[in-house]
Amino acid sequence: MTAPDRIEELLTATRDAFASGSLVRLKLGGYHGPEPELKSVEIKKITTKTGEKYSFTYKYKTRDTIKNFAESEALELLRAGLTEEFRSAQLATTGFDMLFERNGAKQRLKRTEVKGREAPSTDHNRAKNRPLTETDKPWLKALGITGNNGVVRHDAQDKFRQINKMVEIFAPLIAAIKAERPLIVDMGAGKGYLDFALYDYLATVVRRPVRIVGVEMREQLVEDGNATARASGFGGLSFQAGTIMEFDASGADAVIALHACDTATDDAIFKGIRAGAALIAVAPCCHKQIRRQMEAGQADGRLEPLLRHGIFLERQAEMATDTLRALLLELNGYRTRVFEFVSDAHTPKNNLIVAEKDGRQGRDRDAVLAQIAEIKMMFGIGEHYLEGLLAG
Ligand SMILES: C[S@@+](CC[C@H](N)C(=O)[O-])C[C@H]1O[C@@H](n2cnc3c(N)ncnc32)[C@H](O)[C@@H]1O
Repeated sequence: MTAPDRIEELLTATRDAFASGSLVRLKLGGYHGPEPELKSVEIKKITTKTGEKYSFTYKYKTRDTIKNFAESEALELLRAGLTEEFRSAQLATTGFDMLFERNGAKQRLKRTEVKGREAPSTDHNRAKNRPLTETDKPWLKALGITGNNGVVRHDAQDKFRQINKMVEIFAPLIAAIKAERPLIVDMGAGKGYLDFALYDYLATVVRRPVRIVGVEMREQLVEDGNATARASGFGGLSFQAGTIMEFDASGADAVIALHACDTATDDAIFKGIRAGAALIAVAPCCHKQIRRQMEAGQADGRLEPLLRHGIFLERQAEMATDTLRALLLELNGYRTRVFEFVSDAHTPKNNLIVAEKDGRQGRDRDAVLAQIAEIKMMFGIGEHYLEGLLAG
């Protein structure tokens, strides 16, 4: 059967965009063919070991299937699909959009020019390894990462990479929690980047039942977060207004705090320890509480050259604060690791303290207490804020 002209026009535009590297994606919708669960098909360009391919993601009600095709085969499939089974198609390129609609024998094709859109990377492995590949989501748009067309904005590429990285780090930590439907509390959630990304990945990609609560003292952010969670159909994700210390964290399986300010990190660790959370993970922010004590000049005189320059004092304050946090966590039954969280191209505050409750009884409490006392004495620290909370 000869394909009607509008379809040929769309296919020519798709082929040209593929060849010039300007193809963002082609999406086929309005399916009315023989497969009962098929909803849509998305086509992108990818680069594999055997060359450039058209990658078709067949989106079914409960799963996705990906098949890659060489050009001639892909165009044949598209021609047949648009003639017989799909009533609409949207082509997105870096320079224009095309909307195709078919109603019986009638066909329409509308072209709209666009500006400032980037083509996605065609690197097959990178795209495949990224946990969040689907970008046409209300939460990504609400957080300003994607535009109206569902494509990641040029100026939000770094943020999108960063949230994918967060999911890569947190998903295995959450997977290790034994609870059937873990409760994750994100303290100082801000706009909830982590919460939306993690919920989306856990609930819709790997289908692990989960509840996530973001605690945030700025009420407007909480209202916005709840509205976006509702619009996304994320029933297990909510935001609660108030301070970390006011929040009742009992029953939490994981307590997370990313760049919560200064001692808000300690509040979060304290709540996690008291709740007996299986996982406590914090990326500390500023370290003023300890820095002020170190600046008061009570540190061991031999450290003077290390603390003389403001920038090194800041780093020493950071290391002393977080080392003490790690030791206090150990003292409370947690196995603690510290590692780099996101590249410091994004932020210099890039350490993540990950503490997993291992309930080890044989730990030498006296030795840990002695280490804490010695570090405090060396750096002239009277009291670590977290230590005070735990003692209270
Ligand atoms: C630097 S932002 C980080 C936001 C988010 N965690 C992220 O990484 O994108 C810190 C957030 O913590 C909130 N915050 C700070 N101290 C808090 C406290 N004691 N209780 C509740 N929220 C707090 C602030 O309002 C702010 O939104």
